[in-house]
Amino acid sequence: MTQLVGLDVGTTGVKAVAISDKGEVLARAEHGYPLSTPQPGWAEQDPEDWWRASQAALSEVGAQQAAGIGLSGQMHGLVALDAAGRVLRPAILWNDQRTAAETAEIEERVGLERLVSLTGNRALTGFTAPKLLWLRRHEPEVFARIDHVLLPKDYVRLRLAGEHATDVADASGTLLFDVERRGWSDEMLESLQLPREWLPPALESPEVSARTGAGIPVAAGAGDQAAGALGVGVDRPGALSIVLGTSGVVFAAMPRFQADPGARVHAFCHAVPGGWHAMGVMLSAGGSLSWFRKALALEASYDELLAEAAAVAPCSDGVLFLPYLSGERTPHADPNARAAFTGLGLSHSRGHLARAVLEGVAYGLRDSMELLGELGVRPEAGRVSGGGARSRLWLEIVASVLDLPLELTAVEEGAAYGAALLGGVAAGTFSDVHEAVARCVRLRDRIEPDDAWRPLYDSGYARFRALYPALEPLEET
Ligand code: XUL
Repeated sequence: MTQLVGLDVGTTGVKAVAISDKGEVLARAEHGYPLSTPQPGWAEQDPEDWWRASQAALSEVGAQQAAGIGLSGQMHGLVALDAAGRVLRPAILWNDQRTAAETAEIEERVGLERLVSLTGNRALTGFTAPKLLWLRRHEPEVFARIDHVLLPKDYVRLRLAGEHATDVADASGTLLFDVERRGWSDEMLESLQLPREWLPPALESPEVSARTGAGIPVAAGAGDQAAGALGVGVDRPGALSIVLGTSGVVFAAMPRFQADPGARVHAFCHAVPGGWHAMGVMLSAGGSLSWFRKALALEASYDELLAEAAAVAPCSDGVLFLPYLSGERTPHADPNARAAFTGLGLSHSRGHLARAVLEGVAYGLRDSMELLGELGVRPEAGRVSGGGARSRLWLEIVASVLDLPLELTAVEEGAAYGAALLGGVAAGTFSDVHEAVARCVRLRDRIEPDDAWRPLYDSGYARFRALYPALEPLEET
């Protein structure tokens, strides 16, 4: 039987999945690794850990027998290699916030308007280019030895198949990429005085980037959001991909390149050749709930917390939660934003706080959806994935806050599943990404917005929006 393998090099671990050419899951494997925080706001990982975990997961799902392999992974991370291909320092990750000064420097040096027209995006602390500028300033001895720069999954490709390569979707998150023209931006590289030779070729996601020692084609792959969107069947405009993972994402496939003039949502290449996507990213979605449990409710299980939250009425009796525990990307682009509970009174219980967390995250997703609406996105539904999608209550809240039906797919592997589909196109099992999605992705459930909750959440959202001063009032955005 044809077997296609997808690998997702995530932030907490790798996930591998082997699927048939009809999309059934044949095997899955997961291996974790640590994340280090050498200073507050920093986030680093050892690329060797990714490789060790990837080898184990790939061998457990039988990747040696695969017809094709696809790679996906956490985006934006900086892996710096010397001329001998050795890793020069721990990788600096997407959620690392050390580069506030460098993002300001980039926007000043290039000019915000020019930056958005060149890259489709503004300079955010998580992106790759500011990390390189940080290294130049703070670790010049490391910077001087750089010979190659790779993104996380591309380092795994190098170890797996010996090739330097990336894909246009993942490259879009470097701030060195001309997202509209789907190639590295010479103007950005010149402005930031970074050598073009450090960067790998950027291929379309389903293209064959390399072959393993055994001759198995390895698709270029995609960053986790684009791969995850394919995994839930978002290959064309229509449904949104909504992720309730550690971070929260609202992702729309776009018919053409279109940057938000204020760059509050990202404009990236999609994993579909000739396709783009717009996306809002919240840094703490599921992360807010796990923080809440750890900080305030360690003796309770998630099930208990969610049951307590379900017993509370919509809008949590006036308690609001701002989910900015690690700063925020969309819509504030502010690494110094911080979270808050407001409206607390003596009558409130832990269930009120828990429900306020679920609602605060849903309001944050609505911020992104409103901005996508300004780009003309009119979704018919949202396809949800990520750990938070296992809570029916949370899905009911999100559906009602967004006023959007939510759909669940039969397979929950998200990015790894999308990567396997790309592996299938590289192997020739599918003629293109659309065929892969049509043959493999199936829906299993649908959650409608609650008509009684919707108006309550409209007013709850207006109160949420008024709390964070940097955001303009609704009617002016
Ligand atoms: C997307 C993003 C996250 C990371 C980690 O822009 O930063 O999705 O890729 O999962």
